[in-house]
Amino acid sequence: MDSDSMDTDIVEVNTAKQSMNKADVTGTDDESNVPWIEKYRPHTFEEICGNEETTARLAVFAQTGNMPNLILAGPPGVGKTTTILCLARILLGDNFREGVLELNASNDRGIDVVRNKIKLFAQKKVSLPAGKHKIIILDEADSMTEGAQQALRRTMELYSSTTRFALACNNSEKVIPPIQSRCAVVRFGKLSDAQILDKVMSVCALEGIEYVNEGLEAIVFTAQGDMRQALNNLQATFHGFGFVNSSNVFKVCDEPSPLMVQEMLEFCKDGKIEEAYQRLSYLWKMGYSPEDIVGNIFRVCKTCKFPEYLKLMFIKEIGMTHMKIADGLGTFIQLTGLIATLCSVNRGDE
Ligand SMILES: Nc1ncnc2c1ncn2[C@@H]1O[C@H](COP(=O)(O)OP(=O)(O)O)[C@@H](O)[C@H]1O
Ligand SMILES: [Mg+2]
Repeated sequence: MDSDSMDTDIVEVNTAKQSMNKADVTGTDDESNVPWIEKYRPHTFEEICGNEETTARLAVFAQTGNMPNLILAGPPGVGKTTTILCLARILLGDNFREGVLELNASNDRGIDVVRNKIKLFAQKKVSLPAGKHKIIILDEADSMTEGAQQALRRTMELYSSTTRFALACNNSEKVIPPIQSRCAVVRFGKLSDAQILDKVMSVCALEGIEYVNEGLEAIVFTAQGDMRQALNNLQATFHGFGFVNSSNVFKVCDEPSPLMVQEMLEFCKDGKIEEAYQRLSYLWKMGYSPEDIVGNIFRVCKTCKFPEYLKLMFIKEIGMTHMKIADGLGTFIQLTGLIATLCSVNRGDE
C-alpha cells in the first residue's frame, strides 16, 4: 500500500521534471530494488544541496546555453556527476539521450575506448539546435591511464566545434596538465553534516522510515560528508533492521562504535589507563584495522566536549599516531602507546 503510493509519487516527479534518462527505468521497474541514491538523485540545480558557488557557476553555463570543457574535482558523493547531468539536461533538453555519452569507471577507459567509442561519438552526427554541443561525461577521469588521457586531449582538440567534455575526478592533479589547461576547473567540497542530515530526513519522510535522532546522527557521522554513503547506509540499515538507531547503523557500516571510543577518550582524560585499555583492546579484538580505529578516535575527539586545550593536545597525539600507522606501523602497541600518552596529557597539566 505504502510503496504503491510511493510509485506514483516518483513517476509524477519524474514526468514533471521531464527527466529523460532514468524516467522509464524508475517508472516501470520494481521500485523497491532501485538504490535510493538513484531514486533520489536530484534532477534540477535547485535540488542539489551544498557547494552553492560551484553550482551557481555551472548554472550560468546553463543560462548562456554554452559550456566550456569542464573538470569537476572533489571528494566522492558530493554531486559531481549529478550536477553535470543536470547541466546537460538543461542544455540539451529533448536531445539529452542522443547528445550525451556517459562513461564511468565501470567502463573500460583505456586508450582503445578513447580511440573508438569516444571518437565515434564525437564524430557522430546529432542534429542539435544551433549553438549546442554534444557532451561526453567521463567519470573518474583521474584513473584513466596517461596514454588514454593523451589520446583524449587530441580528441578534445579535433572535435571542439561539436563536442564538449566534462571530466569528473577526485584529484584534478592527476589529470594531465594539457587537459587541465583546456578545461575550466570547478571544485566541490564535502557536504556539511547539516546538509546531509537535511536530505536524509527528507528521504526518511518519503520512505516512511522509523528512526530515532541518534540513528540519523550515526548516519551523518559515518557518511563524513559523502551523500552517497549516507543514503546507502540509510537504505542498508532500513532493509537490514527496519529501524534506524545508532547501533543498527554501526552494525551495518561495520565501524568501531563511537560510543565506545568516546568512553575510551573520557577515561584517557581522567588518566584511567586500565579502563581505556580495556575499550581499546575490545575494538582491536573485534578486528577493526588500525586505520579505522585511529580515524574513528580522531572523529570522535573532534566532537567531544573537552576543554579546548585538551582537545588540541589529544588531536595532536592522535595525528602523530595516525602518521605512524599510515607509514606502516599499524600495530596494537602503537595504539596502546597513544592511549598511554593521552592519559598522561591531562595529568601533566594538572
Ligand atoms: N549535493 C547533493 N545533493 C543531493 N544529493 C546528492 C548530492 N550529492 C550526491 N547526492 C546523492 O548521492 C548520489 C551520488 O552522487 P554523485 O553525483 O554521483 O556523486 P559524485 O559524482 O560526486 O561522486 C546521487 O545520486 C544523489 O542521490
Ligand atoms: Mg560520480
